[in-house]
Amino acid sequence: MSIKSMKDLFFHSLKDIYSAEKQIAKNLPKMAKAAGSAELRSAVEKHGQEADQQIERLETIFAQRDVAARPLRCEAMDGIISEAKDLMADVNDKFVRDAGMLSVAQAIKHYEISRYGTLIAWADQLGYQDASKLLREILVEEQATDQILSRIDVAAIDKKAA
Ligand SMILES: [Fe+2]
Repeated sequence: MSIKSMKDLFFHSLKDIYSAEKQIAKNLPKMAKAAGSAELRSAVEKHGQEADQQIERLETIFAQRDVAARPLRCEAMDGIISEAKDLMADVNDKFVRDAGMLSVAQAIKHYEISRYGTLIAWADQLGYQDASKLLREILVEEQATDQILSRIDVAAIDKKAA
């Protein structure tokens, strides 16, 4: 894809996060099942379910500008998810595994928060108010889930892991 304008860059980035959300929706339910702590499991499940609704919002943004909604494989998300898979496969102790999974779930959230922040700025710059509004709705959800993950008692998990 050749990127010649801010509009091209915006949609390039939108296709990246569209792919990332699809990767999240597909993999997070598996990750949730591997969680030892019920609190972590429900936070990771919520995270996966949210991605489904966010995918629909992203598709609306593509449709608003008549751009084909084609995911562009997000290699950053591939990397984070493959880290999660390694942890789930290699770590036997459930508390140690939970501590690792919590860190991966937050890395995913922080990636998303950073991307949506940029996309909102670019949508505003391009005068795409309708897109900006939908992206802001997604960002609010991402931040709320990040807060939930932050409140999970990492200290308790870490202590048991130790
Ligand atoms: Fe998301």
